Amino acid sequence: MDRKYVAPPYRIKMVEPIKMTTKEERISLLKESGYNPFSLRSEDVYIDLLTDSGTGAMSHFQWAALMMGDEAYAGSRSFYRLEKVAKEITNYKYIIPAHQGRGAEQVVLPQLVDRDGLYFISNMHFDTTRAHVELAGARALDCVIDECFDTENYHPFKGNFHLENLVRIIEEKGKENIAGIIMTITNNSAGGQPVSMENMHEVKKIAVKYGITLLIDGARYAENAYFVKQREDRYKNKSIREIALEVFDLADIFLMSAKKDGISNIGGLICIKEDTDLYNKCRTYIVPMEGFPTYGGLTGRDMEALAVGLNEALEEDYLEHRLDQVRYLGDKLRDAGIPIQYPTGGHAVFVDCKKFAPHIPFDQFPAQAVGNAVYLEAGVRPVEIGSFLLGRDPDTHKNLESPLELMRLTIPRRTYTYAHLDVVADAVIEVYKNRDSLVGLEFDYEPPVLRHFTARLRPIK
Ligand code: F0G
Repeated sequence: MDRKYVAPPYRIKMVEPIKMTTKEERISLLKESGYNPFSLRSEDVYIDLLTDSGTGAMSHFQWAALMMGDEAYAGSRSFYRLEKVAKEITNYKYIIPAHQGRGAEQVVLPQLVDRDGLYFISNMHFDTTRAHVELAGARALDCVIDECFDTENYHPFKGNFHLENLVRIIEEKGKENIAGIIMTITNNSAGGQPVSMENMHEVKKIAVKYGITLLIDGARYAENAYFVKQREDRYKNKSIREIALEVFDLADIFLMSAKKDGISNIGGLICIKEDTDLYNKCRTYIVPMEGFPTYGGLTGRDMEALAVGLNEALEEDYLEHRLDQVRYLGDKLRDAGIPIQYPTGGHAVFVDCKKFAPHIPFDQFPAQAVGNAVYLEAGVRPVEIGSFLLGRDPDTHKNLESPLELMRLTIPRRTYTYAHLDVVADAVIEVYKNRDSLVGLEFDYEPPVLRHFTARLRPIK
């Protein structure tokens, strides 16, 4: 039978009621939040598409595993279970848990920076990765292909490294000044876009040629592996696990926010292929930062749930349905003429708000204006990824202009149905019909750093 979507490979055994508010209620709730959905209570949100991080639904196997948590401070049985699973998936020698992705970053990145004037190069640094690179005293440079910024046109791997630019940057800065190359898979910031296996092999060759450490920021590595299987002919008969193993074999270090492809509510991983010296440094440094190396800020039960979730996220029928939900929402919007990052990536639909609301200048935050209108329309909470998030130049204090103004509709794992996605699509389409009436935003209160989390805004009359 010809269906418009891939039905879920699970059924529902526990439900969490959510309630719709009235439009009048949402008008005053949004005003109270300072026109910043980060300040809304989740109870006042009907469909929450702020993030796919820690918001997925656990399986009954994960809930059962929670009961087996060993809460010992040192040498917990749950740690050894998690370590075994992570070793099987990566084939790496050393595994240390962390409380989440940024916890892993704050432990590992400073170990790679031993003096001033160093750089990390990534296809695109995620915000917290960039922050930890800078806190460690290094600079973060992005190096993604140009097609990534051309939202309308198809490219199968918009997360790919721009290989010529990568070589140029290394030559310009000097190979001894590059602390590491970070492959972010999938490339979250520009649409959850995948990186091809071919591109990753080329990056590896460059890293080897210049003797540079290669890291994977792999919060969504399983979703990336599924795209490789779908879009690179040579991999169509390989399993997701085989593809993931081939990717891990390329790198020296794998950092993971396990709140994504670990399908857990909390958790992170530091995986080191074979560098015993680095492992020893991280094992020492993690104690004051996250906790003893056999728990790294997690409870025993968190580690149990994560050990199960890591394996579930590699199941092909799960991934097929997961990525189809994103595709389904993207297609509905595209069919209505709405500009999105195309093709859709792994975890979200990114609406191109430069094109959606071209009359709103970048420093009046077009994607925030569109997102707020979507909340007013149907109680759906998207998140802005554009100039509002980017902030100001630290030297000139001028608003930085983001190359893309995106509204991210982020889909939690195994949480919403296609019917929910229909509500989301209808709301965005309705806002699109009335897009000319959208207005920009200005600050009531602007915090000095990471302003998008707590800023208060008002619509410009
Ligand atoms: N790396 C990537 C690619 C991420 O997307 C994230 C988090 C992190 C690292 C940091 O991990 O949140 O566990 O500390 N991304 C979330 C998001 C927050 O909404 O995209 P964390």
